[in-house]
Amino acid sequence: MIDQASGLRELVSKSDTKNSKFITIASGKGGVGKTNFAVNFSYILANEFKKRVLLIDADIGMANVHLFLGLDKGKNIKHLFTGEKIENIIQHAAGFDVLVGFSGIDDFFEMEDVSIQTVINQLELVSQEYDYIIIDTGAGIDEKVASFLRASHKSYVITTPEPTALMDAYALIKTLYNLYKYDNFKIVVNMCKNKEEGEQTFNKLKISTNKFLGIDIELLGVLPFTNNLRQAVKRKELVAVLYPKDGYTNSIRRICKEELKVESVTHDKFWQKLFDFMGKN
Ligand SMILES: Nc1ncnc2c1ncn2[C@@H]1O[C@H](COP(=O)(O)OP(=O)(O)OP(=O)(O)O)[C@@H](O)[C@H]1O
Ligand SMILES: [Mg+2]
Repeated sequence: MIDQASGLRELVSKSDTKNSKFITIASGKGGVGKTNFAVNFSYILANEFKKRVLLIDADIGMANVHLFLGLDKGKNIKHLFTGEKIENIIQHAAGFDVLVGFSGIDDFFEMEDVSIQTVINQLELVSQEYDYIIIDTGAGIDEKVASFLRASHKSYVITTPEPTALMDAYALIKTLYNLYKYDNFKIVVNMCKNKEEGEQTFNKLKISTNKFLGIDIELLGVLPFTNNLRQAVKRKELVAVLYPKDGYTNSIRRICKEELKVESVTHDKFWQKLFDFMGKN
């Protein structure tokens, strides 16, 4: 056992996750479309742009990515902490891989049947297999969500044009910046009537972050409101699969193209940082 762990440590120290891109998806307000964005974005990156994608459901307590993809919620992240090998937990969806989350308990990090370091090492090793690691989080900003955002070199904040959603997006950005000087935000405005509404929404947010925090944020994309997405959700399918020509699907495709233009940033030891930020290591 000790030998195995030290072997793993050695492997991890030789190679790290510096070529994998970690993108955390967050929002201030709930129900703004994070999870739908995460699954469709993963699907298009993997199937149309041939990227190796791992989608992680980090909405601890209210995990639901598995529902969109017809996956087994019995095999989930929690089992990493009870000694299960990561290869046995990762599931395969439509062209990409998924680490399913879990629901119902909040004492996740109290579980220490295996050492946190073993879990970190497994996650570091596995992450090297992917071009993108997309992390869907729960709404709002608690210590766990903040840690995922801080460890990612890119964070997508999803909002809608609703004033409350916009206010909460601002509050999230402000908290991350004031507490940790983290300012790497890209904004997606979802459920818009048209492009102008999305751009106006973004501009309001940009003016506030500029004026009150002195930071610049970037508009990544505007996604339309579409009944096709609701239809797809009802049928437990992805809008990108059922409606590949829908405006929503097209907008996500554009976002993927934008993302692919971005130069690779050296990105070491995501998982180590994450658990350090959480004060768990
Ligand atoms: N572009 C859109 N057009 C129409 N409906 C949408 C759109 N995006 C999301 N929805 C609907 O909004 C609801 C919430 O979506 P989703 O679960 O993706 O949000 P979320 O931000 O992940 O929520 P939570 O904060 O609870 O995790 C769903 O019922 C979904 O069908
Ligand atoms: Mg969600």
